[in-house]
Amino acid sequence: MPLTRRQLFPAPLALALAGCGASSNKPAARGRGTADAPWRIGMSQCNLGEPWRVQMNRDLTAAAAAHPNIELIAKDAQNNSLTQRAHVEEFGQQGVDLLIISPKESAPLTRPVAQLYKAGTPVIVLDRAVQGDAYTTFIGADNRKIGEAAGKWCANILGGSGKIVELQGLMTSTPGQQRHEGFRAGLALAAHPELEVVFVADMQWLEPNARREMESALATQPQVDLVFAHNDPGAHGAYLAAKAAGREQDIRFVGVDALPHEGVAYVREGLLDATFAYPTGGAETIATAIKILKGEQVPKHIDLATKLFTRDNVDAGGEALGA
Ligand code: FRU
Repeated sequence: MPLTRRQLFPAPLALALAGCGASSNKPAARGRGTADAPWRIGMSQCNLGEPWRVQMNRDLTAAAAAHPNIELIAKDAQNNSLTQRAHVEEFGQQGVDLLIISPKESAPLTRPVAQLYKAGTPVIVLDRAVQGDAYTTFIGADNRKIGEAAGKWCANILGGSGKIVELQGLMTSTPGQQRHEGFRAGLALAAHPELEVVFVADMQWLEPNARREMESALATQPQVDLVFAHNDPGAHGAYLAAKAAGREQDIRFVGVDALPHEGVAYVREGLLDATFAYPTGGAETIATAIKILKGEQVPKHIDLATKLFTRDNVDAGGEALGA
């Protein structure tokens, strides 16, 4: 893949070139990056209605607080891609020194991110991806790997036979697409003729939707042995629906995120059977932002490690997933 101008030249040089008529409309950040004149970092969060996103903002804010030479300006798009597009444009007009975005969906946010990036503002895309490669770096865990590990774990715990419900995250977002793809690969249905996915629904990452979808699944399926929800709120919603129907003891529940006070606590309490860690990347993102602002090279893709938590290993702090 050809190197971009940003990869070829460190930021100060790229900005100097911008002043010589290269394609940038961004004022040079010369003299910024001190406690008196901090670098301004815009952060567009797709929503703050879910515990994991609240944790991400907390992690970013805590990491940023250790660096007086940066100022973090956070906006909440309230789960609306158009609002989030407007954020990106506003941050561009304000001339922030760097944008961090955790986009709701890939397609509607691809172009605004690319425009800002091509105009000279570094962009870190966090957790959910955009299309193409017009951004500085992507930071996130490997959702395909998580899905595949979940599929293998589920096939194994069911002894290769059983009826499965898959409650998907928003399928216009990359983690939903990749967790689904990985899950099906991990289940290896062709090799397990006795395993069957009997109900699939897009619960859009939201617990109330998952609960409603699970009510439909239970109403139409006399037998359900396991639910894989693409996140822990989804798994918890499914559990609550099963409990209300008196069927929670017959079903295993598996989720993703593993926040200590959410998914991990559910495993410890016996509500979920397993959850996979999906780190927020807050600390890595701030560290990477500072490197970019100082003109250092950063990789195009920064992978965050994941872990499996089950009832057997939760007290030991979970188990790292191999490469
Ligand atoms: C929060 C969330 C997490 C999930 C992630 C995927 O909005 O739904 O639960 O792991 O987004 O992007």
